[in-house]
Amino acid sequence: MSGQFITFEGGEGAGKSSVLQAVSCQLKQLGYQVVTTREPGGIEIAEKIRDIILDRAYTVMDARTEALLYAAARRQHLVERVVPALDDDQIVLCDRFIDSSLAYQGYARGLGIDEVYQINQFAISNTMPDLTLFFDITPEEGLKRIALNSEREKNRLDLEELSFHQAVYDAYMLLLDRFNDRIVAVDASPKLEVVVEYALDLILKHINNHTVKTK
Ligand code: TMP
Repeated sequence: MSGQFITFEGGEGAGKSSVLQAVSCQLKQLGYQVVTTREPGGIEIAEKIRDIILDRAYTVMDARTEALLYAAARRQHLVERVVPALDDDQIVLCDRFIDSSLAYQGYARGLGIDEVYQINQFAISNTMPDLTLFFDITPEEGLKRIALNSEREKNRLDLEELSFHQAVYDAYMLLLDRFNDRIVAVDASPKLEVVVEYALDLILKHINNHTVKTK
């Protein structure tokens, strides 16, 4: 396996999905072979699990059930989509991965970062990202942005209070420190073009040191 697995992380409204699409286009224009995907989802089984996890009607969902469902979706997506592309030396840009589970379920839901890491180890069998970009925006600013975006799907986690989103942010700060050789913070407060340019630059510097497929 010698492609590059690059994940995009952040709280709600950080703009990571828009940056991911723009960075993907630019990498393709530069001749790289890129797979863009997301979690939970990306393939049929995982999209079905996504529908269950994020359904606003399921307010009774237990935190451990939630963590296990994210891990199950992750496993299937990894096997079906991520690993084959990495085996083919492609660049995989994935909107969220294990750090989301560590931040949301491990820390914000209070299950424990180490406990959630353990169930995810079973799911991913050591396939960790090569590089993770954390899109840094305060929860207040992020939630303000999503309130203004009427097209965005409002899911079950959007029903949480500001204190939950603050806990998610605090968790990412802990993860930045713990995985400082893998996770890099990107200031997500400037306008989109600026964030895209910065993110692309980081990714190009990273992949220049590795062998990935071009056309
Ligand atoms: P999205 O809005 O980025 O598509 O993500 C869907 C929601 O799922 C978002 O609120 C973050 C949450 N999430 C977790 O809580 N744990 C996870 O492991 C993942 C991948 C997402």
